[in-house]
Amino acid sequence: MRFLITAGPTREPIDPVRYISNRSSGKMGYAIAEAALDFGHDVILISGPVNLSPPRNTKFISVSTSDEMFEAVHRHADESDVCVLCAAVADYKPVQVSTIKVKKRADGISMELVPTRDILQSLGRQRARKFLLVGFAAETDHLEANATKKLLEKNCDIIVANDARVGMESDENELLILFRDGETKKISRAPKKFLARELVKIFLKFATKKFDKKDVMITERT
Ligand code: CTP
Repeated sequence: MRFLITAGPTREPIDPVRYISNRSSGKMGYAIAEAALDFGHDVILISGPVNLSPPRNTKFISVSTSDEMFEAVHRHADESDVCVLCAAVADYKPVQVSTIKVKKRADGISMELVPTRDILQSLGRQRARKFLLVGFAAETDHLEANATKKLLEKNCDIIVANDARVGMESDENELLILFRDGETKKISRAPKKFLARELVKIFLKFATKKFDKKDVMITERT
């Protein structure tokens, strides 16, 4: 099967030397890419800036801003069977990006921010999408309620929820997986590499069910 995976943070520039971003390490997305490759699948990895080397044998697309990630995802989603949007896309970007360094002022400044485009939601809204759509939810509170809201609002097949305070920048995580039909599954704290393999198995099982129902042939590519 063909996987498209997003990973890492995005950077939304303020001026040539500053940006808005977050603490995402990209470890979970890269581990999922490696697990999918190990199981013999094709992987397109679309990554924001991280300190990790891309796994060999992936089609690797390096991006920086949410707009670049949006374009790259939309260029490749329809040629994929499973889209896993693991990236921590910045939610806001500055309205204006200064071409020169903004100088410090004694009286403070305020900056106007606008929401970035929601990549996951834009795929969920595609009417005749053929791929399995998996989103992530990093929360600090009301994990299940917030993740369920994302599952519905972004129209995904699966949401993988985690406590941001456990998973962010860490080699370990614990997961709560929510499925479209209301089913849930917990995976207790474990290394991200182990979790990634479990997730890929779950995605494949779900994708096979989904494609079987729609009578779509899945061909393994060698
Ligand atoms: N996501 C996305 N595009 C965005 C924001 C988020 O594709 N502009 C995706 C993420 O990759 C993830 C899911 O949406 O799969 C949820 O991301 P998260 O940051 O947890 O939620 P938000 O929608 O940003 O909501 P909030 O920050 O309010 O929790």
